Amino acid sequence: MGARLLCLCLLTALLGYYIYSPLPPELAQPGTVMLASAALRALGHLSEVAELLGLMHYMEGLRLITTVELVAPTSDENVTVTDTELGGVPVRLYLPKRPPGGLRRAVLFFHGGGWCLGDAGMHGYDLMSRRISNELNAVVVSVNYRLAPLHRFPAQFEDVYVVTKFFLQSKVLSQYGVDPARVCVAGDSAGGNLAAAVAQQLSEDPEVKTKLRAQVLIYPALQALDLDLPSYRDNAHKPLLPRSLMVRFWSEYLSPEPALRAAMAANRHAPPEAGRLLPLVNWSRWLPAAMRGARTPTRARPCARWRGAGGAPALLDRVRAAAGAAGALRCRPRRSVLTCEHDVLRDDGAMYAAPRLRAAGVPVTHHHAGDAFHGAMTFLAWPLELAVGHRLFNTCVEWLKENL
Ligand SMILES: *[C@@H]1O[C@H](CO)[C@@H](O)[C@H](O)[C@H]1NC(C)=O
Ligand SMILES: *[C@@H]1O[C@H](CO)[C@@H](O)[C@H](O)[C@H]1NC(C)=O
Repeated sequence: MGARLLCLCLLTALLGYYIYSPLPPELAQPGTVMLASAALRALGHLSEVAELLGLMHYMEGLRLITTVELVAPTSDENVTVTDTELGGVPVRLYLPKRPPGGLRRAVLFFHGGGWCLGDAGMHGYDLMSRRISNELNAVVVSVNYRLAPLHRFPAQFEDVYVVTKFFLQSKVLSQYGVDPARVCVAGDSAGGNLAAAVAQQLSEDPEVKTKLRAQVLIYPALQALDLDLPSYRDNAHKPLLPRSLMVRFWSEYLSPEPALRAAMAANRHAPPEAGRLLPLVNWSRWLPAAMRGARTPTRARPCARWRGAGGAPALLDRVRAAAGAAGALRCRPRRSVLTCEHDVLRDDGAMYAAPRLRAAGVPVTHHHAGDAFHGAMTFLAWPLELAVGHRLFNTCVEWLKENL
């Protein structure tokens, strides 16, 4: 009996130790955050073991997060929801039932998940699209682009670009009753990367006559050249996106070469040709002074080993992979950028919203949440519901109401 009790106590302690992770005091509802974070960590460890045993790819294991969160396309009293295809790419489409009262707005939404996970049908994303459609009386197209490792860069970008171009044709816009002057792209995390890339590429595409009104970037990933920015250092072990996972996402997206991940982990992956791009992601220059603080400047250096290696060409693609490397200056649609303090991607977003853009005449709104972590906005329904998630989402909806 005593031995069993001892075993039970040990197990409980072990479980407690596993779930408990010290969180920054600013994060509210720490219990929910810790549970979500522990579940993700546990799944990560299981997926690593499964990969070591040759049973499945690490990302296939992690994809369980997507699977358990999937909901069917169900219409409600306000919105008609269907899974369909636009331009040959699968999308989940949200059409408001309210009488249009004139032409409607439209939002093209790209979900997050590191280019490897996620689905428009995940509960959190489905709720977001539904509410945007209802509250803005807008057509929402949430794109199910192809995922890595089966499909790598630029497949994800190509899918969302095909859908966007297809949708922007006059005959398609009028079929859905959409005002050509009120279309925007939006995305979170890797989806924010895709949204910025689409906005950038469209502004250079002579075939597209209709221009986007806005881009909404929610804790976006915008560059892979320097993975040692202050935000990567400060938040390497915070929920829900530790630095190691972000490194894995970037490397899976850009290249099948396993060595790229090790090089990225050491931040020794920028090829010599990156020399001219690195100043564009120089945080000691571009971060707002308040976020830069009194830190000693670090310097990302190109690494000769990566000359011609698998990941290099994609790393240098500053339109489709790294819009944050300031090619974005030429890109006009007004932008809203949300960043979270406790997020490895904080500085990517902060540099993209930096004053250099305002100086270039691009209207920018930067919301910085001091009490939020990466992924917080998807926590919109029980059991994964957070007040901060609702607040961030409302901020986003309000911005859309005023700017789209
Ligand atoms: C439908 O819209 C109304 C008004 O915006 C809202 O109060 C209601 O909760 C919505 N219904 C659903 C199922 O979301
Ligand atoms: C980064 O910017 C700082 C401040 O403007 C400057 O002193 C430094 O030389 C820059 N570093 C690189 C690598 O461009």
